[in-house]
Amino acid sequence: MILITGAAGYIGSHYALNFSEFGLDDIVIFDNLSTGHIDTIEKLQKINPKIQFIKGDLKNKDEISSVFKKFKIDSVIHFAALSQVGESVINPSLYYLNNVVGSINLLNSMVENNVLKIVFSSTAATYGEPKYTPIDENHPQNPINPYGNTKLMIEKIMDDYDKAYNLKSIRLRYFNVIGADEKTRIGEWHDPETHLVPNILKSVFNNSKEFKIFGDDYDTKDGTCIRDYVDVLDLADAHRLALEYLNKYNKTDVFNLGTQEGQSVKEIFNISQEIINQKVNFKVVEKRLGDPKILLANSSKAKEILNWQPKRTTFDSIKNAFKWEKVLNKN
Ligand code: UFG
Repeated sequence: MILITGAAGYIGSHYALNFSEFGLDDIVIFDNLSTGHIDTIEKLQKINPKIQFIKGDLKNKDEISSVFKKFKIDSVIHFAALSQVGESVINPSLYYLNNVVGSINLLNSMVENNVLKIVFSSTAATYGEPKYTPIDENHPQNPINPYGNTKLMIEKIMDDYDKAYNLKSIRLRYFNVIGADEKTRIGEWHDPETHLVPNILKSVFNNSKEFKIFGDDYDTKDGTCIRDYVDVLDLADAHRLALEYLNKYNKTDVFNLGTQEGQSVKEIFNISQEIINQKVNFKVVEKRLGDPKILLANSSKAKEILNWQPKRTTFDSIKNAFKWEKVLNKN
């Protein structure tokens, strides 16, 4: 049985769905529902009635320890985290407690129960300002915000736990994740929403919410920031392959997950407008603090070693995200 933390959230829920659809259905989900949604869990359980759900908080060691006593867990996929860069700057204590202390409680519970395999959601934010592009896994890690710091700290803790306790981890460093389930059962659902694609799509349903482009005088092809947008379903595939790799080779490793293709904010806006098929109002505002002008993944390692190949185009991803946004707006 695998334990998935944070599967009520965006990326974790798509992984739980993917895992279930591959017929790999022995899952227990642990989530405190602080940013995730019980509706998402209920939908997952409808698709896969064998999913067990425990509402609990990683900050409470007893709550997570008891899961290992109750179920026979073989490995852990750890998504649970707070992930808003801006919020982490304003309230770092929340981030260190939730992400770092929470992960230590999880890792200690694993070691105590002799569960020694984990796939961990890390992030491109651990690299900080790119020194070169595209970014490979050997790029120096100098995060520029508390969120990135928390993820890097957890990576380092995992290294020490490998040496001391033989705990093996695969860290997946995500770039910009977009998209939704093709059948619109689940999708991206943050409150408040800060990400580019859902913010463009939401402005269609909420006329008072004009879409804002954060700066158009960057030193890039059209003046807006460039990112590497990867589909959430492709990302789910990568987690499944990472777990297979971990089970087969029992080896700690790290992989960037991106498409190696950079797209600007304006390009994403234009694709979205084409999909929405109506004019979307926007205005250019001040740059957002801490936004690097370009973040592009070199993810050839994941292709070579995990045999992972992103399949969806940005157009597909935004199309699915728009279908999901319509569902969200009906509720
Ligand atoms: N943007 C806008 N308007 C918006 C929202 C975003 O112009 O309403 C721009 C941003 O300035 C940025 C780009 O769109 O240039 C992408 O922004 P997102 O907020 O969608 O994503 P980020 O690149 O800021 O963040 C993502 C993840 C973080 C992670 C970070 C670094 O969401 O968790 O990549 O890897 F830390």
